[in-house]
Amino acid sequence: MKIIEVKDYQQMSNKAAEYIIKKVIQNPSIKLGLATGGTPVGTYKCLIDDHQKKGTSYQKVTTFNLDEYVGLPGENKNSYRYFMNNQLFDYIDINKAKTNVPSGIAADFQEECHRYEDLINQHGGIDLQILGIGSNGHIGFNEPGTSFASKTHIVELASSTIQANARFFNKIEEVPTKAITMGISTIMKSKEILLLVSGEKKSEALFRLLNEEISENFPASVLKNHPCVTIIADKAAIADLKVTT
Ligand code: F6R
Repeated sequence: MKIIEVKDYQQMSNKAAEYIIKKVIQNPSIKLGLATGGTPVGTYKCLIDDHQKKGTSYQKVTTFNLDEYVGLPGENKNSYRYFMNNQLFDYIDINKAKTNVPSGIAADFQEECHRYEDLINQHGGIDLQILGIGSNGHIGFNEPGTSFASKTHIVELASSTIQANARFFNKIEEVPTKAITMGISTIMKSKEILLLVSGEKKSEALFRLLNEEISENFPASVLKNHPCVTIIADKAAIADLKVTT
């Protein structure tokens, strides 16, 4: 794993966007895996800015999002489909038909899980997957204890995840308790992974990722088995590492 240390959230966002733009220019038909949450918002802003000023095109790009809340349709402001349209897709020249988010309102969720996994495979897999990390080590919505062999599946969200995500909802009771997420093996099949880590709240997770043994109890630890992972982390997230070294 390669770690790039940056000053703060803004620099992390700039670096991550630069990284993604370079890959898109090299391969205009790239298959990108995307994340939601607070971490990539700044990166998406930089992508929009670059698209508007320098014209990087996303017309041929295909995207696959990591996850979606069960029960929320795409029109719901808290759904991840809405988030992606609002934070990125509506402001670049991407073909919306090529943007994929698992359905939160599928009639048959088992079928939706298979459909999503097959869709990724039919496209030849993800070239570059962007990830954030939960403070409990989750990647996607793969909570501690998830099998490393898991494919796209339905999960019960950990109470710490519900609490962390309540900031986006009016009240905590509105946060869905289930989600559909790419599995760990789905994520690990990506050819390349870019993990973004920012802020003091994530410093313990980053420390555990780098120092603990690979274990299903800390899902992100699996990334140490991947041949091509780059971490962009800011000083606040790296602080814990400095204390021990
Ligand atoms: C988002 C996702 C999650 C987040 C993680 C960190 O699609 O799959 O794993 O990356 O919960 O969230 P933030 O960035 O809000 O701290």
